[in-house]
Amino acid sequence: MGQHDKIEKLIANLGELPTLPVVIQKINALLSNPRTTAAEVGQAISTDQAIATKIIRLVNSALYGFPGRISTITHAIVILGFSTVKNVILTTTILSRFDLHKNVQGFDMMGLWKHSVAVGSIARLIAQEIGFRGKEEAFVGGLLHDLGKVVHALYLPESFLQVVNNAHEKHGLFYDSEMEIHGATHVDIGSWIAEKWNLPNDLAMVIAHHHTPTKAGNHMLLASIVHLADILARALEAGNPGDQSIPVVDLEAWSQLGLTEAQILRIFELSEGEIERASVFLQVND
Ligand SMILES: [Fe+2]
Ligand SMILES: [Fe+2]
Repeated sequence: MGQHDKIEKLIANLGELPTLPVVIQKINALLSNPRTTAAEVGQAISTDQAIATKIIRLVNSALYGFPGRISTITHAIVILGFSTVKNVILTTTILSRFDLHKNVQGFDMMGLWKHSVAVGSIARLIAQEIGFRGKEEAFVGGLLHDLGKVVHALYLPESFLQVVNNAHEKHGLFYDSEMEIHGATHVDIGSWIAEKWNLPNDLAMVIAHHHTPTKAGNHMLLASIVHLADILARALEAGNPGDQSIPVVDLEAWSQLGLTEAQILRIFELSEGEIERASVFLQVND
């Protein structure tokens, strides 16, 4: 069986994935148009009241620095800017497709969500340190980088557990264990979902290349940020990525980021508080 066939087989077994609501496609289009006004976005979101309520709750969390002071989407855009609100909308819509409290027998599923939040938070801190303009894209990229693992765990728990147990027994990496057992990885599953859900290109590239950042083309810097954040989250033992090993950092990505020792220390120092504040995203469906 060729590589492609193996991925197809794994994906075929996933069955029916949830779909993204039409409203998010409409909002993404609006937000990528520089002439769109805050009022137009507010109006588009208000057509989905459930999502609108969640977004208002999130933008009022301590994570964004204006707790309890934002009353409408329009107001949020004026205060926080398009980029932040756009990314909150995207993240909320995707996370609301999942039951974040769903258990997978034999696996600490909440730990995987915590790993995701940790990687998002650390990615945002790295972006801030190096002056990368897409801080919020780094956060969302980190939060959703292992989307393929989440879907695999929730939709094919037995096959997912096989990978986890094999990695555990061999003291190896989850990624290598996936290759050994399925000949395909969470990167392939994640990329398939990104295509199906028509996710923004930069996010799709992070999902596809957080283990191979030098292959991310125009989005190499963003992929490198998430690649390093994934490794730092493991070093900090924040959450459960599915294995206990720490992958080797890609040297080209590392040198492109150009972080000093002082900057790394500051990231470590700030990460705990940042992860805690960002954990509001895990309550999005409560
Ligand atoms: Fe990964
Ligand atoms: Fe990860």
